[in-house]
Formats: sequence, structure tokens, C-alpha cells
Amino acid sequence: MQLKDFNLTPEKVKELTNKYMIETYQRFPFVAVKAKDCTIYDENGGEYLDFYGGVAVNSVGCCNEKVVAAIKDQASDIIHTFNYPYTIPQTVLAELICENIGMPKIFFQNSGTEANEAMIKMVRKYGVDNFGKEKYHIVSALKSFHGRTYGALSATGQPNSVLHNGFEPMLPGFTYAEFNNLEAFKAACTENTIGILVEPVQGEGGVFAASQEFMVGLRKFCDEKGIFLMLDEIQTGWGRTGALMGYMNYGIKPDVVSIAKAIGGGLPLGAVCATEKLAAVFTPGTHGSTYAGNPVCCAAGYAACKEILDRKLSENAKEMGAYFSEKLKTLPHVKEVRGMGLLVGVEFDFPKSADIKQACIARKMLVTAIGTSVIRMVSPLTVTKAHCDKAVEILKAAVEEVAK
Ligand SMILES: Cc1ncc(COP(=O)(O)O)c(C=O)c1O
Repeated sequence: MQLKDFNLTPEKVKELTNKYMIETYQRFPFVAVKAKDCTIYDENGGEYLDFYGGVAVNSVGCCNEKVVAAIKDQASDIIHTFNYPYTIPQTVLAELICENIGMPKIFFQNSGTEANEAMIKMVRKYGVDNFGKEKYHIVSALKSFHGRTYGALSATGQPNSVLHNGFEPMLPGFTYAEFNNLEAFKAACTENTIGILVEPVQGEGGVFAASQEFMVGLRKFCDEKGIFLMLDEIQTGWGRTGALMGYMNYGIKPDVVSIAKAIGGGLPLGAVCATEKLAAVFTPGTHGSTYAGNPVCCAAGYAACKEILDRKLSENAKEMGAYFSEKLKTLPHVKEVRGMGLLVGVEFDFPKSADIKQACIARKMLVTAIGTSVIRMVSPLTVTKAHCDKAVEILKAAVEEVAK
């Protein structure tokens, strides 16, 4: 759809959006009409360097040719089926994901938060079915982000924040412990704890990577106590961190892991992958979803997931992430550069990240701000050194302007 198809101007689009839509987003000040790889075009043909990746979704670049072709093909074959018939896109994608991440079972969902709902429900049901009705507690991390639906929101360790305020009470059974503090996690577990849930890198929470000791320590503790290690890899999964899955950087394996974002190639797709033992709690009628595993989404997902494997984009994420991070450290006012692969956060020594973001957008680079002093960058995994150099140059100019 383009402006001319509806006789619209960019101003009219903004006016109608403001008139009709319930607005919970801080919009970029332009109408996005086209995109290719790491560039997004506005209504005037203005070119924006994409360093937000549709929030870590466009890992294979915007409008990747293989993804576009897969969507067109599948849309002309069959668009929706519900999950009664077997479908080819779902089958081949299930095999591709399970075989590459070493998990035997997968359940598709439509989004990240839904994948986490499935993960939480699976673990809680295992606990209740096998150990009695009190065994459903999950310990997650402070500053975590797991999504906006009630289970995932309750697992999100940000009490007294805009995420939770006014939406209480949260679901019972969730407690929070300090991220990267193994002893705090151990202390938070009780005889009723069935799962520990963490992100390998806290993205929304400010871009903090889990330490090796923490992840290995959690795995060991979970094994000793019969607790499930649950990883939220919605943002980190499928290449972003420089390994196919975040957990592969630590040499551990979870009992259950949620993925989304990158695996859909831009269409809504999430999944939870689990061990046979855990997966067995989902039997006909216990869980489901009308659209989840939709053939078009799975066809796009297959093309995107395969593209990341075939082009070794996780290796590019590792290489470019290291290159980009080193360059970012040379910028003025940088307190810390954090993250893993191409999930990069820069903390500045003054609290004006929203202004820095706006100054980047004015210079035609798209980034997101977290809190008061962090800029997060989650570009497509296809970025080159030239893209990274340009991003550093723009960010430098933006910071210098705002710091004045
Ligand atoms: C780690 C993590 N979990 C869950 C979610 C929620 O995913 P979605 O917005 O697709 O529901 C996000 C979204 O940013 C995320 O980063």
C-alpha cells in the first residue's frame, strides 16, 4: 500500500493515526513506505539506516528476497488452515529449528509473549501434575522483560514500573532475583519452585549479558534441585548474539527455550522448544492457538531461518558486533558498551538517551532508547563494516550535539 493508492499525504497519515489509534508507542516522525536490507525509506524517499531492526526482528534485513518470495508463494498456495491439517511450512520449519538447536520438540505461537506464555504454562503444568498443586513457582530476574500478556508480564521482574503499574495483581507464583547473582537466585528458590527463567542478554532491561559463571551456575543448581532452566531467547535467539542461540555462547542447554522475532523474517511467529519430558504435558486440548504456526508465517520463517544458517549470519553478528562495539567505545561520553554480537547497548554518562535517539533520527539513523542513558542497537545481522562506520559517525554527531 502506498500513499497514492488512498490519496493520502504523510501529514494526513499522521493525523488519521492520531485520530483513530490508541497510541502506546513513541512514533518515529515519518511514514515508512519501503525497506530493503538495512535501509528504511520514508514518504519522500529519505533513507534511514536501520539500527533498530524492527526491534530485533529484521535479522535477515528488511524485505529479504527469499522471505518475500516464500510469502508470495505460500500465500498463493494456502494462507490459513488452523492446526487440523498437517502443513508443509510448519513441518519443515519445525525440523529446521529443532535439529539446529538440539531441542526435540517445538510448539509454534504468534509472538514472543505468547511463546513465553506457552513456556510458563508447560513448566507450571509439569510441576502441578507431577508434584502437587503448590509446585508452580518460577523465579525470574529483576530488570527482565518477558512480554505484555499476564503470565509473561508477571514473570517480568519490573515491579513499580510503567509495565506493571495499574495492571496488578500479577499472577501468583513469580518471584524476582537480581540478574547475574547466582546466590540471590538460589536464595529465592523454595520447595515450590519448578522453574528459573532468564534471558541470556537482558535486552529491554538495558542490555546486560549474563556472565558465564551465572549461566553455568544456574544450570548446575537447576540440575541439583530438579528445577527447569527456562530461557527467554525471544530477542537473543537465532543468530543475534553471534551464536545461533544465546545459550550456545555458554556451553549449556536449557530445558525449555522461547524464540520469536528473527525466526519469522518479519511475520509474526514465536515458538517454544522443549525437552521430550516437558513437552509431554501438552496434550490435545491443553493448549492451542488459532493462528499459531500459520502456513505463510512458517514459510517466511523457514526462508529467514535458512538464510541465517546459509549465509552464516550469526558469524557476521559476532564479527560485526565486535567491530562495532570497539568503535563505539571511542565515542565521547560513553560510560559503557555492553551486549553480545549485534545486540548492543551504549550507556552514556549523562541522562539524555531520548534526545540522543531523536538526534540520530534527525540524521537518518534509527535506534531505540532504554531508560535515561542507554541507546540500544539491534541492526539486521547483514550489516557490513561500512554500515557500522556510518552508525558510529552519526551517533558521535548526535551525542556531541546533545551534550553541548
Ligand atoms: C526478551 C523478550 N521477551 C519477550 C518479548 C515479547 O515479545 P513480543 O513483543 O513479540 O510479544 C520481547 C520483546 O521485545 C523480548 O525482548
